[in-house]
Amino acid sequence: MSESDRFNTIAGWTLGAGIVALGLSAISSGYFKADKFHAPKEEAAASGGGAAAAVPIETLLASADPAKGEAVFKKCASCHTANQGGANGIGPNLYGVLGDSIGTGRGGFAFSAALKAKGGKWDFASLNQWLTNPKAFVPGTAMSFAGLSDPVERANLMAWLNTQGSNLPLPAAPAAAPAATAGAGAAAAAVVGDAAAGEKSFAKCKACHTINAGGANGIGPNLAGIYGDSVAQGRGGFAFSDALKAKGGKWDDASLDAWLTNPKGYAAGTKMTFAGISDPKERANVIAYLKTAK
Ligand code: HEC
Ligand code: HEC
Repeated sequence: MSESDRFNTIAGWTLGAGIVALGLSAISSGYFKADKFHAPKEEAAASGGGAAAAVPIETLLASADPAKGEAVFKKCASCHTANQGGANGIGPNLYGVLGDSIGTGRGGFAFSAALKAKGGKWDFASLNQWLTNPKAFVPGTAMSFAGLSDPVERANLMAWLNTQGSNLPLPAAPAAAPAATAGAGAAAAAVVGDAAAGEKSFAKCKACHTINAGGANGIGPNLAGIYGDSVAQGRGGFAFSDALKAKGGKWDDASLDAWLTNPKGYAAGTKMTFAGISDPKERANVIAYLKTAK
């Protein structure tokens, strides 16, 4: 191989490596841009894994579902028990961990120096940060678990863990929280709905509603073109309750969000016997789906 051939070969390798590196960075930045489910996780990690930007964890805890949280705990069960007197495994037994000191006790579990040095107690705020991203909350921790990016999952899980020997009072939701229907729209507006996920959630509505154009009324009215339409009018002569008829106005993001959060809270006396959807993300998804149903 001549001197110049060798140079060309090396130049070729260098160029090739550059292209590969460029390609990878383009792919990874495209990945984060394209996949909206990764963006909030990145933000949460960057902000130290605090409460979700849109809805404070205290607000989510107020409507958290411990039964769903028990299901989330399956992600922890390879390393943790949570029952009273349960054995330590790869991680410590977690009975009564809320309210307890961080990184101490637990039947002599061999905590990492990092977690032992953390100090303080596990409350809803610290546990929320830990579960968002353990390594961000305690660099050097021995808990090799990536974290739970979904704030609703974390709230449900903490609500369930709290029933395992802690029973701390839930923290007060901030005053600005959408406890009343008025604020709920603002919270939903910050959440970008996913129509495809909303279509799946619409399974909860199908017992009473069709949504295809020209679909029959059932227990509830057909919902084709409901977004932007007047509240409780038309719909092929569906017999609306006086309560919903008296409401007036049009169905938009705010009114649909309030309605789907708690139908009876929105229109006391409505005949829609549906408890509501407590998860703001799920409501935003359903509303996004309703918008597509012309
Ligand atoms: C791959 C195993 C593994 C998984 C999965 C895991 N953990 Fe852990 N966990 C650990 C280890 C190991 C520690 C001890 C960390 C240390 O000492 O730094 C720990 C510590 C903890 C602590 C601190 C306990 C204390 O007394 O300070 C809590 C709380 C906790 N885990 C909760 C959870 C929850 C909830 C989940 C599920 C969402 C989970 N962990 C998933 C291994 C795991
Ligand atoms: C158990 C039956 C039932 C379920 C389940 C149900 N609905 Fe309804 N829905 C009704 C009834 C009945 C009404 C009429 C309420 C009234 O007149 O007070 C209604 C009314 C509505 C309206 C107002 C229509 C209009 O023209 O003003 C919307 C929007 C709506 N439902 C959406 C939903 C969505 C979305 C779901 C699922 C997340 C759902 N509903 C689940 C029975 C149900």
